[in-house]
Amino acid sequence: MTPRLRRALAAALISSSLHAVATAQGTISPVAGGAELRDGSTQIRVIAITDNILRIRVGRGALPEDASWAVAEAERRRSVPVSPTANGFTTRSLAVALNPQTMQLSVSDLQGRPIIADASDALRFDGKGFALRKALSAGEHIFALGDKTGNFDRRGESFVDWTTDAWGFQRDTDPVYKSIPFYIASGRAGGAYGLFLDNSWRSWFDFGHRDAKTIEIGSEGGPIDYYIIAGPAVRDVVRRYSDLTGKAPLPPLWSLGFQQSRYSYMSADEVRQIATRLRSDRIPADVIWLDIDYQDRNRPFSTNRTTYSDIKGLVREVGAQGIKLVAITDLHVAYAPDQGYAPYDSGAAGDHFLKKPGGTTYVAPVWPGPSVFPDFTRTASRAWWGSLYKKLTDDGVAGFWNDMNEPAIFETPTKTMPLDTVHRIDGNGFAPRTATHAEVHNVFGMENSRATYEGLLRLRPNVRPFVMTRATFAGGQKYAVTWTGDNSSTWDHLKLAVQQMLTLGLSGVPWSGADIPGFIGGASPELATRWFEIGAFTPIFRAHAANDAPRAEPWVDGPDHLAIRRRFIEERYRLLPYLYAVGEQSARTGDPVMRPTFYDYPQMAAAPCNQSMAFTVGRDLLVAASPQPDSARAYDICLPANGWYDYWTGAQLTAQKIKETPTLDRLPVFVRPGAIIAKQPLIQSTTETPKGALQLDIYPGEDCSGELFFDDGVSISGPSLRQAISCTMTTRGIALHFAARRGSFRPWWKQIAVTVHTPTPITRTITDQPRAATITLQ
Ligand code: GLC
Repeated sequence: MTPRLRRALAAALISSSLHAVATAQGTISPVAGGAELRDGSTQIRVIAITDNILRIRVGRGALPEDASWAVAEAERRRSVPVSPTANGFTTRSLAVALNPQTMQLSVSDLQGRPIIADASDALRFDGKGFALRKALSAGEHIFALGDKTGNFDRRGESFVDWTTDAWGFQRDTDPVYKSIPFYIASGRAGGAYGLFLDNSWRSWFDFGHRDAKTIEIGSEGGPIDYYIIAGPAVRDVVRRYSDLTGKAPLPPLWSLGFQQSRYSYMSADEVRQIATRLRSDRIPADVIWLDIDYQDRNRPFSTNRTTYSDIKGLVREVGAQGIKLVAITDLHVAYAPDQGYAPYDSGAAGDHFLKKPGGTTYVAPVWPGPSVFPDFTRTASRAWWGSLYKKLTDDGVAGFWNDMNEPAIFETPTKTMPLDTVHRIDGNGFAPRTATHAEVHNVFGMENSRATYEGLLRLRPNVRPFVMTRATFAGGQKYAVTWTGDNSSTWDHLKLAVQQMLTLGLSGVPWSGADIPGFIGGASPELATRWFEIGAFTPIFRAHAANDAPRAEPWVDGPDHLAIRRRFIEERYRLLPYLYAVGEQSARTGDPVMRPTFYDYPQMAAAPCNQSMAFTVGRDLLVAASPQPDSARAYDICLPANGWYDYWTGAQLTAQKIKETPTLDRLPVFVRPGAIIAKQPLIQSTTETPKGALQLDIYPGEDCSGELFFDDGVSISGPSLRQAISCTMTTRGIALHFAARRGSFRPWWKQIAVTVHTPTPITRTITDQPRAATITLQ
């Protein structure tokens, strides 16, 4: 038989087995928490993890191993009692039906309204890979999928998940830095649903691109193991997805401040100058970042002895100015045998580096030149990696940056390591074995950040680790915040940045930032100013620029631009009490910090305005930048209802749709009627204790409520203060209800400065209210 004939025969065999799946008569049987459909060797098991989350595993011969990089065992193994039906089962919210003729799965709510249904030819095996087909109905919109570019509504597009160092990416670049195989579909009668494909191999999602009525999901290998997460609201889906894959912990308070970075500040002297300039220009800031040039020959966990001779001393000096250091620690360890370079020596001695199929260590070029790569999917290697942080943490470096962890490899067209590079995996439910890079690639960056996070926890057990990663996978939000990688200083990238942070938020990652004012190319003063303004309302507020880009610190474009930028940075610091409480709420619920306007206000999905540059921060603030940020043309802003307030003036608006004529020094921000926003007196750094009263801005309206959350800003366990505040309008004025404070943290204020934004604002200073109390103001 010629090879060609053999291939043709093999293809015929595959398609005949396909045929068998599609037509034979399967049998449905109940199993604990769900049902199973068997047809020959094909087995589809649907388990109700909760009343709203289904786990579907499909196998030929046997179900895939019960293992996951994203979902903890306790979640994977969960199930709730179900009621069997003739063709499936019901939970307390969902009806699940399996079709024994076609092997199709459909899910509806208990009123029979469809949520998700398989399309024809629903399940296709293709060698080691597979494809799933789901129906895409006329009114559906598709969101999430990590940091993907393209359109925010992903309908009509297709994407690949293959984590990639995407330097210079543009709006149509795919794949990019992260692989989060989770999408949300909304618009069906039964409400929104999410689908999370728990598979680390190269995968793809086609949302009606090839066939307008079909969503196709496929992977070139690995398990068919996926979750359907029912809503009905998008918010329910996001929260439940975070129940499955984990919540992002509240980052340290200082990391919510303004952070100044550059590739690179070339010496400790330069860092001192930047710190001094931030302070002398009265630019509030909490962090300066050390990029690769603080190291000796780009070697991770080394320092350049000439230019950065005393990290500990530098930490102390800038620390006295209220500034912390975050240092880059890339994953690639310099291949430097017999040179006294401890990360290489200890890693080699402990057998922690990846190998080629023949058993020799895999060596490839990255920043340090020839490099070796830790085996992050192996428990022992993660523990070793974590221990490398000892010296830097002893020196007082506050946080760490895991870059290049797609992993990026230089001088190869694939930009990454060969697919047959050998990893070892264990834990997470996996029986210990070797695995190829094809299997591990998409989780490699997440496991790198996990090793860092867990290492930092061991080194500083009660300190909340701050790790920023470039690559990640579903669930990576548990270990690190992220940023959108090497963007460009263009107006379109400012728009992309907003979209990427929003879509990351819907993908379980509430803490993200984008380099301000773009990494590559240099920004015009106007672009940079606008980017600072919008950046001040984004979760991670970091300025960063490439080594060959012009300087991009806030002051570089002269005093007029600096004055505007400073005003927005200052507002960020005033708003920290609100932002911190939003973050803490996110850590409990999984809600994004920065949200599309429809997240809390579903009616906004149909608002007659271009909202591509509109978002909310928490539930109560709505930022509405121009959808054409480079244009001076007036644009429409849609608000969720009548009666929202102008954040800057406190005036209540009487219209729901307003026209804004853009000016460079203004960014429209609005407040929900009913919001109680906590603010603080201006500080230059979160190390400073605000002087004076806590400020409460009350915007009368329905559901008038807010929450205070404070703690020491860094500890994992320690006292905190939580207090709900609500308001009601009475005939005697406005009554402010303080619930009793929970937690024993002692705040910095003794008094509360209340402003009620009535037509003639009421301003009063009251004494602090730790206990339940009602105070009426008129
Ligand atoms: C990568 C990062 C960038 C960093 C540079 C040098 O390009 O994305 O942020 O400055 O490497 O470390």
